[in-house]
Amino acid sequence: MTRLAGSEGPRPTVSPAAPVVEPAKGGRRHLLSVAELGAEGIAEILEVSDAFVEVGRRSIPKVPSLRGRTVVTLFAEQSTRTRLSFETAAKRLSADVLSFSLDTSSVKKGESLRDTVETVAAMGVDAFVVRHTSAGAPAAVARWVDASVVNAGDGWHEHPTQALLDCYTIRQVLAERAGRPSQGAGVGCFVGLRVAIVGDVRRSRVARSLVLAMGSLGAEVILVAPGSLLPPSLEGWPVTEVSYDLDAVLPHVDVCYLLRLQSERGAGAFLPSVREYSTWYGLTARRAGLLGDGALVMHPGPMNRGVEIADDVAALPQSLVLRQVSNGVAVRMAVLFMLLGQAPVPGTGVSA
Ligand code: CP
Repeated sequence: MTRLAGSEGPRPTVSPAAPVVEPAKGGRRHLLSVAELGAEGIAEILEVSDAFVEVGRRSIPKVPSLRGRTVVTLFAEQSTRTRLSFETAAKRLSADVLSFSLDTSSVKKGESLRDTVETVAAMGVDAFVVRHTSAGAPAAVARWVDASVVNAGDGWHEHPTQALLDCYTIRQVLAERAGRPSQGAGVGCFVGLRVAIVGDVRRSRVARSLVLAMGSLGAEVILVAPGSLLPPSLEGWPVTEVSYDLDAVLPHVDVCYLLRLQSERGAGAFLPSVREYSTWYGLTARRAGLLGDGALVMHPGPMNRGVEIADDVAALPQSLVLRQVSNGVAVRMAVLFMLLGQAPVPGTGVSA
């Protein structure tokens, strides 16, 4: 494994909120941003994920690759999918898992994040999986500790493993449709793929990571949103097109990726009303009917049903929402394994 950032890793170059990545302690490798992966790095992670999808189908979906390693999930913001998915991934790799919430920690008594992280690290930790409301928090943790760090979503900045599991899911479905196994499929399927990313792009770390991933892989990205939900500048965003008209875009895309309207990050203040947003940008059954044959519908979750996606659309066969979640476990196993693994994965031919 060569592409996850280590002490020589490149700095994120895209986001105004991008943290400066200083040399990591002890030459540890991290996954802080999709920007640091490039097409080759993404392809490598997707290939290793194939092996872990296969492991997940076994009667005992567990391998000993990270036995003796300790992974901490340090979450300072709510999560269902990402947290449980990382914890499941680490357990399936036989790592010991410590689940840590800042809300119930001594941070509430005034301890700083740095003191808290250094205290947990002193117990002997190999990897921190960090979610935080502040952009750059995982990069800061990476500077403080001698352990690998995975960004599990930081503020408006990035959510790299969400983008990776989204890429994996698209590649898997396209391979299935072509009657091929996804193993060895490479990433050629993304070249020229037309992906609409719809909704609250401005506040979305998911959008930022997905745009970077799709740009690296040669897809065409169309951002669809009202102006108030777009970033003030798209400099450095590899997008093909920006549109305010979802109905006009839908017939021409291969993937319609819906973003959650992020009320907790103030999205409501940028809209006349949620109802009006839903009227113009919600994927209703009528709008889903405008999609071409075979177009995929995706959403990172949690969904605001009836706002960005209608109930009946979420239930359509081409809606991949739960498949995205399932694949997330395998993709996160791949990431943890590539950062920490030493022993090959039995029965897969995969080694770190
Ligand atoms: N998609 C995602 O990050 O979901 P959670 O906030 O539930 O982890």
